[in-house]
Amino acid sequence: MCGIVGYIGEKQAATLLVDGLKRLEYRGYDSAGVSLMNGKGVETRKAKGKIAMLEKAISSQPIHGKVGIAHTRWATHGPPNECNAHPHHDCTGKISVVHNGIIENYGPLRAMLKKTGHTFVSDTDTEVLAHLIEAAFDGNLEDAVVDALALVEGTYGIAVLSADDPEKIVAARKGSPLLIGIGEGENYVASDVAAILAHTRQVVYLDDGEMAIVKRDGYQVCDLDQQTIKKRVNRIEWDLDQIEKGGFDHFMLKEIMEQPHTIENTMRGRLVTEEGFSKLGGLNLTMDDLQNLDQIIITACGTSWHSALIGELMIEEHARIRCEVEYASEFRYRNPIVTDRTLCVVISQSGETADTLAAMREAKRRGAKTLGLVNQVGSTIAREDDGGIYLHAGPEIGVASTKAFTSQVIALALLTLKLGRLRNMSVVQGREIAQAMEALPGQIQSILDRAKEIEKIAEAFVDATNFLYLGRGYNFPVALEGALKLKEISYIHAEGYPAAEMKHGPIALIDADMPVVFIAPHDSVFDKVVSNVQEVKARGGRVIAITSRHEDSLDGKIDYEFRIPQTIDMLNPVLAAIPLQLLAYYIAAKRGLNVDQPRNLAKSVTVE
Ligand code: AGP
Repeated sequence: MCGIVGYIGEKQAATLLVDGLKRLEYRGYDSAGVSLMNGKGVETRKAKGKIAMLEKAISSQPIHGKVGIAHTRWATHGPPNECNAHPHHDCTGKISVVHNGIIENYGPLRAMLKKTGHTFVSDTDTEVLAHLIEAAFDGNLEDAVVDALALVEGTYGIAVLSADDPEKIVAARKGSPLLIGIGEGENYVASDVAAILAHTRQVVYLDDGEMAIVKRDGYQVCDLDQQTIKKRVNRIEWDLDQIEKGGFDHFMLKEIMEQPHTIENTMRGRLVTEEGFSKLGGLNLTMDDLQNLDQIIITACGTSWHSALIGELMIEEHARIRCEVEYASEFRYRNPIVTDRTLCVVISQSGETADTLAAMREAKRRGAKTLGLVNQVGSTIAREDDGGIYLHAGPEIGVASTKAFTSQVIALALLTLKLGRLRNMSVVQGREIAQAMEALPGQIQSILDRAKEIEKIAEAFVDATNFLYLGRGYNFPVALEGALKLKEISYIHAEGYPAAEMKHGPIALIDADMPVVFIAPHDSVFDKVVSNVQEVKARGGRVIAITSRHEDSLDGKIDYEFRIPQTIDMLNPVLAAIPLQLLAYYIAAKRGLNVDQPRNLAKSVTVE
């Protein structure tokens, strides 16, 4: 996803802006650029590739100025190259724009602007914005931005400079996150708090349809009719070291190792073990709302969709409410049956995933109540849902989601407890679940303490070309998640499947070169998995099994075994996911790949 940083104050801005971009590197990008007001006009440096290339361009041709904007681009229109990198300019070179999002109608706008004499140098949709602002500019930058945005369809988070109205940065957002950082005699604009946390903890999040005029000595937020809007100032509690690697080789490994603490944080203050229920403050749903629910739809993407599948089983089994899970990208274009007794649970680590945000908005339009399970505080989904359960897992930097997944499962377990105890779940059942949840941090730690065992197993599969992950019941979504982890960071093809389904086709793949991971803790369907293991062994497959105790029935059938602690069925995914995260991590790391920023991937997919 693209990154935006802006500064206006008394310091030389070039290094400050580039350092801010570095804090956004984890989001994935392919080019970068910066524009400064140098007292005579706007001066820009851009480079394809990593930010180090931009630094090289700046050091070979230094630029000076105390007002500037900078950008990291993840290409959506036009290949990654210097010309298509942001910032983009108008014909005069006096206006500079950086943009996150997609201008859907950039084609007709580009044609219209060309007809009126504008010349374009890039293949991007963003450049259209610079020319629209130029066409509307009459001495006041915010007026021109408002007029330009009135013609735009699509999504944007933008920051704009003008040499003819130099003492300000104009920012605006619709669908792409943007915030203002508040300093002393200086102010910032950014797409993510990580870019400016070194300078300020006071931030104002812009909402869709809002614009900000940011100056040294203050800022004004207004709507696109330029009506002033009063905004809350948020204080960011994260520390920069939470965003740094903390001594680990990769953010992903750091985040895997954090999980005993992160799920503790997800549960903190929300479990009432004695009474066997959960206290969830931000649901914004009355007891009547909760008791009258007659269906729950959970919608999400990727890893968050896998945790949704686990939530479906939990809610069905323990809260006895009809529940269905749908990919957000599918839900938003379906014609789903939604009533005012429907709760749409929206799961998203970033809170900015475009498909998930659109699915939530569609559910709201149809009268459903919406509940966001989100990690990123202040993100768009978290601010637009009717209520929410923050994961409190801290910033997840590695593109491959790990701690967010286990915290999502915990949040779903808390929701299940809440709903179940309002229906037919007894205090004894509730207490059993709550006690099992409380034991998880220690159990996860006991798994992490044996990470070397997983590393050893990983060594045997560094050169594998295919993997199959199989599980039943609560462990089928874990099979999907384990496969996704492996394929997205090691580039090895991997498929998750319900264990029993293997005989309906995938069994044809089994041979000595096909490692098969079975998620087989002792649970209510364990005995059924044994026959699937047998089927694989009989065809020469190599079996890696995640088990929770010695099983006579598996003797002689497993090539590699990793044991996890025993817990209740619905919580097995939290424990079984850990060795699979580590297996994927060690295989990818031993393949020498960029574990934190795998090719083609971004941390948050804010485009359709
Ligand atoms: C997970 O490892 C992937 N990086 C990806 O599938 C991710 O889960 C998906 O894009 C959803 O992101 P979100 O949770 O931020 O909405």
